[in-house]
Amino acid sequence: MVVHKTQVLPLSSDVPVSAAVTKKPLSVFPKPSFAAGVLLLLPFFLLAFIYLFLFPQEFQLQSFIASCNPIAASSYVGSSDALTTRVTREPDFRLLIGVLTRADLYERRHLLRLVYALQMANLTAHVDVRYVFCRLYKDDQRILVPLEIMQHDDIIILDCEENLNDGKTYTYFSSIAKLYGGGSGAEGGRRPPYDYVMKADDDLFVRLLTLIESLRPMPRDDMYYGAVIPCDSMDPFRDYMSGMGYILSWDLVEWIGSSEAVRNKSAGVEDMLTGEWLRTAGKGKNRFNAKPAMYDFPIPVPIDACSHGFVPDTVAVHRLKDNPKWATTLKYFNFTQGLKPSKFYRID
Ligand SMILES: *[C@@H]1O[C@H](CO)[C@@H](O)[C@H](O)[C@H]1NC(C)=O
Ligand SMILES: *[C@@H]1O[C@H](CO)[C@@H](O)[C@H](O)[C@H]1NC(C)=O
Ligand SMILES: *[C@@H]1O[C@H](CO)[C@@H](O)[C@H](O)[C@H]1NC(C)=O
Repeated sequence: MVVHKTQVLPLSSDVPVSAAVTKKPLSVFPKPSFAAGVLLLLPFFLLAFIYLFLFPQEFQLQSFIASCNPIAASSYVGSSDALTTRVTREPDFRLLIGVLTRADLYERRHLLRLVYALQMANLTAHVDVRYVFCRLYKDDQRILVPLEIMQHDDIIILDCEENLNDGKTYTYFSSIAKLYGGGSGAEGGRRPPYDYVMKADDDLFVRLLTLIESLRPMPRDDMYYGAVIPCDSMDPFRDYMSGMGYILSWDLVEWIGSSEAVRNKSAGVEDMLTGEWLRTAGKGKNRFNAKPAMYDFPIPVPIDACSHGFVPDTVAVHRLKDNPKWATTLKYFNFTQGLKPSKFYRID
């Protein structure tokens, strides 16, 4: 409110309010002309104008900022266009996608950023994508990674040494709980920063629209979502979700961050381990198997029940280990269909 006042006052003082009253002097006073009346009323029209057109925007902006806290606006990935389209409605839920990768994979991050950013328009959920790796260990990384952070601000460096099955996933989830959790619980009723947290591989193509559609009706608590392992099973309670990409609700992330039993058992085959933590503690009562919409790229032909050809309602495709595989996949999903014609390039 104070903000509104301080913005309105300088504006109305541009208009000669006092001049209108004092300069048109007493001689006019006995028979106030139409013009004088208009002049007298002008400030009020102006105030009304400001009130009608400036305030609603202020309110929208403020409620938007409030609804985005504690996630700062800077956490948006993608262009400012994507930002504005996403302001139009309150998101159904908030999803953090942590892509577990290695510092040296600059080119893959470049591709992933493009692929995620091009899908950010018109989403009904708030999605943040972060690239996650362990401590830097080379001098070039200590310059090149900061460049990326300065430009994109979407990197999380965990306190670990680079590894695959030596607890990186544990470090990831427990760090996320710490980094975003803050003093959670203490301020009763405060919304968690995210409803869901995903662990994704860097060779995984995620189709955000389909993923969000399938997550929307899911419970926001005690939820474990992914592609069931073993490959020939469709029962989400059988074993665990494939490490290609799985999603936990925020309460489970917090629990991983605080459980001593989990900390004691943090190293091992990462996806199997996550399933084991949940099973031992009797957690993850709400589960969803996204197969066959999550699958491995068939190289060159399907090798097991986890891999098959592209399907239209795909949520995610895994094992995109080189650019040709990404290109094949993005082509199938019409990623370049929106390219505008121009005299500056020919693509054929
Ligand atoms: C987003 O929605 C707007 C308005 O409904 C539409 O014009 C635009 O094509 C949509 N963009 C995408 C990428 O779907
Ligand atoms: C974790 O490990 C420590 C040390 O080995 C042990 O004292 C403790 O009881 C364990 N906690 C749980 C919950 O298993
Ligand atoms: C890609 O575009 C073609 C032609 O418009 C369409 O038939 C096909 O269904 C689209 N594919 C997907 C996965 O949306």
